[in-house]
Amino acid sequence: MRRDPKEVRVLVTRKFPERGIDMLKNEGFGVNVWPHERPMTGEEFLKEAKRSTAIFCTLSEKIDRPFLEDCSHIDVISQFGVGYDNIDVMTAGHLGIPVCNTPDVLSDATADVAFGLMINVSRKMFWLHKSIAKGEWKYFRPGSGLGIELRGKMLGVFGMGRIGAEMARRCKSAFGMNIIYHNRKPDKKAEDELEARYVTFDALLEESDVLTLHASLSKDTEGMFDMKAFRRMKKSAIFINTARGLMHNEEDLIRALREGEIWGAGLDVTNPEPMDQNNPLLEMENVAVLPHIGSATEETRNRMSELAASGIIKYYRGEVIDNLVNRRSLDRGR
Ligand code: DGY
Repeated sequence: MRRDPKEVRVLVTRKFPERGIDMLKNEGFGVNVWPHERPMTGEEFLKEAKRSTAIFCTLSEKIDRPFLEDCSHIDVISQFGVGYDNIDVMTAGHLGIPVCNTPDVLSDATADVAFGLMINVSRKMFWLHKSIAKGEWKYFRPGSGLGIELRGKMLGVFGMGRIGAEMARRCKSAFGMNIIYHNRKPDKKAEDELEARYVTFDALLEESDVLTLHASLSKDTEGMFDMKAFRRMKKSAIFINTARGLMHNEEDLIRALREGEIWGAGLDVTNPEPMDQNNPLLEMENVAVLPHIGSATEETRNRMSELAASGIIKYYRGEVIDNLVNRRSLDRGR
């Protein structure tokens, strides 16, 4: 929708990298950046949104049906992130509000974190690092701190999308790992390029040596990795989650690790977030946890900021937004 830039007021909900914010300012838009490190409360968000025409936000902002119905004047929402489970995109579409995100630009960075967690868990690196800090490194011990090797092992990818495929590429070229995957639909490209084999969810659980999550969070995937799932996995398996913490049941994960149902876990996302500092996972030998940093490199965060800003700019210039996530419900709402 073309609009005089002077009439556009973009609410920027966090201190995102300047690049995107400068793009919005250079376009002549009014830009209101939330100045604090902490996210806005729901009340603050609603108040600021009421005097804005566009929202540049991220996963900390809950944009549900009541919010959208209260703010149906909003022209466009642009999410700094690939996941958008904080936004009711269907309702937004029915209200005629396009929602866009930042896919592709963060696939490498996120796959690097999944790959790094896998290696760290398999060699107990976080744990051993902490043991030095505790003064426990006294002498060389041939039989302790032993990890497991990854060469030739089976990687199971839950959600073979852009990030899943990047993780599979890394595992295949670095360790000659074999790839199986489970998606809603088979992915011919992944099968051809990565010699990946499509399997059922149960087979994914049963055959994976490393099971890595890259699907998006939905009603279908929420809580999917629970005790029942962990019990089906190999006792030697490593579970990696860099997607969304709500996809695993954390109490069950703790139990599964304690009871030896699986061997280790690497998490960049937790349930809940932030993780409590007394969470038992932080004291486990075969566990590595990071504070949701999948896309956190300077280069990637700059690209995300630019892409999120470009969604808003394209909208007001009347250009096609490539990374629209609610095209179907928008069409239906029209
Ligand atoms: C994403 O892009 O979805 C990351 O998890 C950050 O929100």
